[in-house]
Amino acid sequence: MHLVLQELFVFSLLLAFIEPFANARNRKWSNNDNKSNFGAGEDLVTSLPGQPRVDFRHYAGYVTVNEKNERSLFYWFYEATTFADEKPLVLWLNGGPGCSSVGYGATQEIGPFLLDNDERGLKFNSFSWNIEANLLFLESPIGVGFSYSNTSADYDNLGDDFTANDAYAFLHKWYLKFPLYRTRKFYIAGESYAGKYVPELAELIHDKNVNTSLFIDLRGILLGNPETNDAEDWKGMVDYAWSHAVVSDETHKTIIDSCDFYSDDTWSNTVCSGAVEELLSQYKEIDIYSLYTSVCIGNSSGSDDKSTLVTAKSSSKMMPRVMGGYDPCLDDYAKSYYNRVDVQKGLHVADGTYSKNWTICNMTVFNGWSDSKGSVLPIYKKLIAAGLRIWVYSGDTDGRVPVLSTRYSLSSLGLPIKKAWRPWYHEKQVGGWLQEYYGLTFATFRGAGHAVPIFKPSASLAFFASFLSGEPLPSQR
Ligand SMILES: *[C@@H]1O[C@H](CO)[C@@H](O)[C@H](O)[C@H]1NC(C)=O
Ligand SMILES: *[C@@H]1O[C@H](CO)[C@@H](O)[C@H](O)[C@H]1NC(C)=O
Ligand SMILES: *[C@@H]1O[C@H](CO)[C@@H](O)[C@H](O)[C@H]1NC(C)=O
Ligand SMILES: *[C@@H]1O[C@H](CO)[C@@H](O)[C@H](O)[C@H]1NC(C)=O
Ligand SMILES: *[C@@H]1O[C@H](CO)[C@@H](O)[C@H](O)[C@H]1NC(C)=O
Ligand SMILES: *[C@@H]1O[C@H](CO)[C@@H](O)[C@H](O)[C@H]1NC(C)=O
Repeated sequence: MHLVLQELFVFSLLLAFIEPFANARNRKWSNNDNKSNFGAGEDLVTSLPGQPRVDFRHYAGYVTVNEKNERSLFYWFYEATTFADEKPLVLWLNGGPGCSSVGYGATQEIGPFLLDNDERGLKFNSFSWNIEANLLFLESPIGVGFSYSNTSADYDNLGDDFTANDAYAFLHKWYLKFPLYRTRKFYIAGESYAGKYVPELAELIHDKNVNTSLFIDLRGILLGNPETNDAEDWKGMVDYAWSHAVVSDETHKTIIDSCDFYSDDTWSNTVCSGAVEELLSQYKEIDIYSLYTSVCIGNSSGSDDKSTLVTAKSSSKMMPRVMGGYDPCLDDYAKSYYNRVDVQKGLHVADGTYSKNWTICNMTVFNGWSDSKGSVLPIYKKLIAAGLRIWVYSGDTDGRVPVLSTRYSLSSLGLPIKKAWRPWYHEKQVGGWLQEYYGLTFATFRGAGHAVPIFKPSASLAFFASFLSGEPLPSQR
């Protein structure tokens, strides 16, 4: 046992990579005005290395969210493949905190261009979610991916509220570039730590909507393996590890007997933190995000070999946030692709003479996170009362934010059941199980890990379509 109990203690971890920022310069790009998205012509992506040919337009670039402090967020937006002018707008967020929605959501999960594992560039995703909606990916907050601030003191304030406020400012500025979407039906989706971001941003939009000049037509939120309520998330993680034979009966019993996850002081109990460390050390040997798949045995070693990192603050109830994504090898392809000078030029990040330092997860952001809501369940209640559609899904082979965590959290909401637990089907097979509550729909994905669309691309797309239409998933083969 080697718990370092200080202000911050770090559980057994694989080494992470922390990279300083390359110097941020503004790009000047071609003046390609397009009447239908007239503010955004210069962001139209016309030459992205390795990109498959497609018939829809996509845009990438910066939106300045704070002029005074010079904070600027990077986005990548894909119009829907067909009938873009009729389909809703969906914002997708990844978590961390500190991880990139471009590196994960857009190019490993649900975007039209997935990282090609031959490292040639990108390959077309025939299950892309932009078949159903106009898809917007945001690198949020500053410090994540290409997003930055020129005021270094801004980085001292990173937390949930800061992130929600900047994302909100982003949306209004983005609408100035894309006025056609200003009145479009709007949804927010995300996974993992975005389980906090998504309801928080939805609440802000809901509150600000009382001012009609700020109105955004938010209709619902979609959450995948979301961090929701720290105490229940912890309890679920521990019980899941035990029920899936990752830890011994003895370690599980020690945790159950000694850990009080509802306390503000969980980690000062060294018996508890030692047993939790033992649990996490078992997960270090496999892929916590996907229990039954292999780990990447790559070339890299030493400080460049990230994958999982588990940390927690002794003074808080925060869950040790485990960094990384499903496939550590894919993370490496992302890193090499997005650090290419020609790719950054194609995405309007840099002018082609230098490159910015892009990382898939920024550990400085992660470690410096100062404000995290212990639970977003009160926000769920408020959004349910406001009549927003809330769907929560869970890949049932994820050990990080396991299906048990989500079930404990949702059951503590005490919502009345509308339709009892039943299987849902995709391509004649059970895709998972579904429970409809009044106010919320919960579904599992059978055999999927943390980032569900990587594992179940076709079923995920069907599920996403179902969410947008509000029609439940098929209850028969
Ligand atoms: C990016 O960050 C890494 C790790 O800190 C560093 O080794 C590298 O030199 C940086 N690259 C640039 C272009 O600044
Ligand atoms: C990571 O975030 C820190 C601030 O928290 C920032 O100074 C740094 O430039 C970021 N690194 C990268 C590679 O974006
Ligand atoms: C603007 O969009 C229209 C509609 O898709 C397209 O036909 C046209 O080529 C675009 N114009 C420019 C300058 O990109
Ligand atoms: C940040 O500083 C760089 C270098 O001075 C400048 O080019 C860029 O426009 C600034 N960013 C913002 C959002 O003002
Ligand atoms: C509504 O929002 C607009 C735009 O931000 C602002 O100018 C106005 O003062 C707001 N009105 C009220 C009543 O807060
Ligand atoms: C592993 O190393 C070989 C030889 O250096 C290289 O060709 C290959 O691309 C590397 N693979 C990965 C996944 O980095």
